[in-house]
Amino acid sequence: MIQPSTILVTGGAGYIGSHTVFLLEKAGYNVVIIDNLVYGHRDLVESTLKAELIVGDISDRQLLDSIFQKYSIDAVIHFAAFAYVGESVTEPRKYYRNNVVGTLTLLEAMVDAGVRSIVFSSTCATYGIPESVPITENQAQKPINPYGASKLMVERILADFDQAYGLQYVIFRYFNAAGAHPDSLLGEDHLPETHLIPLVLQTALGHRDSISVFGTDYPTSDGTCIRDYIHVMDLAQAHVLGVEYLLQGEQSDIFNLSNGNGFSVQEVIQTAREVTGKPIPVEYCPRRPGDPPVLIGSQEKAKQNLGWQVNYPSLFDIIQHAWNWHQKRH
Ligand SMILES: NC(=O)c1ccc[n+]([C@@H]2O[C@H](COP(=O)([O-])OP(=O)(O)OC[C@H]3O[C@@H](n4cnc5c(N)ncnc54)[C@H](O)[C@@H]3O)[C@@H](O)[C@H]2O)c1
Repeated sequence: MIQPSTILVTGGAGYIGSHTVFLLEKAGYNVVIIDNLVYGHRDLVESTLKAELIVGDISDRQLLDSIFQKYSIDAVIHFAAFAYVGESVTEPRKYYRNNVVGTLTLLEAMVDAGVRSIVFSSTCATYGIPESVPITENQAQKPINPYGASKLMVERILADFDQAYGLQYVIFRYFNAAGAHPDSLLGEDHLPETHLIPLVLQTALGHRDSISVFGTDYPTSDGTCIRDYIHVMDLAQAHVLGVEYLLQGEQSDIFNLSNGNGFSVQEVIQTAREVTGKPIPVEYCPRRPGDPPVLIGSQEKAKQNLGWQVNYPSLFDIIQHAWNWHQKRH
């Protein structure tokens, strides 16, 4: 009998990681999670997933060595990172330490253990202010904050590790992850929360008085910023395909994971009013520095090369699933 492959998922107790573990298990993989639970949730892993959770830090080289010794790991999916853009500006050392140095420790442990396949969570923040939309993978990367810079540095390290040590990678540059498991088994639970859809839904639940809209004079149809929201289950499915791609011996490559359609802040709030039946009060504020008017990613390369399909492109479905989850969780 062929043994199922074993995947080490860093940050698997977090938002995108937990959904990915769910689909990996459904696809028949054995999964081991390493998460320090700084932002992850033990209860989600233990109630929903079969994977073994190792509570620890990716910068703990001894722990990593013991994991690679104990389990026969075929590939790593690396979600573990800090991802608060604003905090990265005020606390850059935290971001370079965790996202860059932590990842370097992980990669060194992988290479020394002979594990040579990794799927890495990068971000559209590596592009900075886009030259044009939809953004394709070959557009210039000029991040405008330390968070984006930390992810771009890892992209560079991966390219060099491929060249020198034969480490094969799939880099996924996500746009805005959103939504939840359609049956509300898993969902987004960030503390603090900074993402638009959960903030809008917290307002619908009465946990916030109003939702702040930053800028109403952008060159867009209703004056508010346009962003690309990709359903977390579609993101998770791409990771299963990314692992399969690497295990089949394909070459390192980079893919955007995006909806391909943009939605304005105003459209998000209006759709959330329809989904929830709540008024959702709005407070209009000036523009925030560094917010590009429109961010939309091209999804063509992931579709063509990985056979990826977006099953939940509709904003209504994305918000409906997130709403079901938020009502259950909070
Ligand atoms: N959510 C998005 O819209 C989005 C967009 C682009 C990229 N990303 C990237 O995707 C990844 C996952 O994002 P998410 O929204 O699921 O975040 P999340 O915070 O929910 O998940 C990250 C997990 O990593 C863990 N972690 C952090 N540092 C660690 C360390 N040193 N050792 C062990 N565990 C550690 C946290 O406890 C958390 O469970 C991140 O790398 C993020 O930068 C997210």
